[in-house]
Amino acid sequence: MRLIKTFFAVCVAAAMVPVALHASSGAPVLPEQSWSHTGIFGSYDKHAAKRGAQVAVEVCMGCHSISLIKFDQLRALGLSEVEVKKLAEVQGRSKNDRMTSAMDETAAKDSFGVIPPDLSLITKARKGYEDYTYALLTGYPSEAEMELVKKVMAKGAISEQDALEVQSALLINAHDKEQMKAKLERLVGGANFNKYFPGNFLAMPAPISAGSVQYADGTDNSLKQLSRDVVTFLAWAAEPTMEERKSLGFWVMGYLFVLTILLYAIKRRIWAKVH
Ligand code: HEC
Repeated sequence: MRLIKTFFAVCVAAAMVPVALHASSGAPVLPEQSWSHTGIFGSYDKHAAKRGAQVAVEVCMGCHSISLIKFDQLRALGLSEVEVKKLAEVQGRSKNDRMTSAMDETAAKDSFGVIPPDLSLITKARKGYEDYTYALLTGYPSEAEMELVKKVMAKGAISEQDALEVQSALLINAHDKEQMKAKLERLVGGANFNKYFPGNFLAMPAPISAGSVQYADGTDNSLKQLSRDVVTFLAWAAEPTMEERKSLGFWVMGYLFVLTILLYAIKRRIWAKVH
């Protein structure tokens, strides 16, 4: 019976491997999300970005700066002057200031061992773009996953079945049990583990969870929603003029198309006598 159960678990987990982990490198595969602003005609979901600005200021800017953006630029997302002033005050800034964190870099380095990176361009700076930032924010172990880890560690040795369960929950490669054990020990010891951060351990504790931020319009504040919103905001912050770029590109292509037809007509006319 146990053998059948194990066999079944192995089959289920094996079927999941290509989805969760890259077959060759064993690194986790980022789940692909759909964003309104990607693609050639995409534009930002301004409502999401506006909510995301609130999450960024109230939570992320406790540690991170977004220094390439000024508070006043948030007006482009539909925030009123009063809303902008209020958000700036959260970080002790005024509306014409850049969005720098109230925490200074030395204090941050003392607390975390690293300076939290500026988030202005983070969406473009990481492989996987917004899908990565989203995966990172939602990639901390849930309570149920922590229970699984504790259960597995309580047994001493990691069985094949346990390893596969851990692999499908936390995306740690089951082939190397020694490494898995070392990681689970660090995780149980309280280190910050994330399924999608390269190497899994990072200096940032899970920054948001369900309910971390209250939206004035009563929008659902689940972890997924908060993450989507702040990721949309950070994508906007990395390129606030994307929509103009795309529409200019559209006109340029149209112009080149018309020019090509004209040049062809002229060419035919000029060469008509020669042929
Ligand atoms: C308590 C402080 C703190 C808060 C709050 C915080 N972060 Fe971080 N964050 C850090 C630190 C420290 C790092 C550096 C992690 C490392 O390199 O180990 C980091 C790194 C990051 C990275 C880069 C990860 C990488 O691949 O290098 C992203 C993206 C990020 N944070 C996003 C956010 C977002 C979005 C929020 C708000 C929802 C947020 N952080 C809130 C401390 C914080």
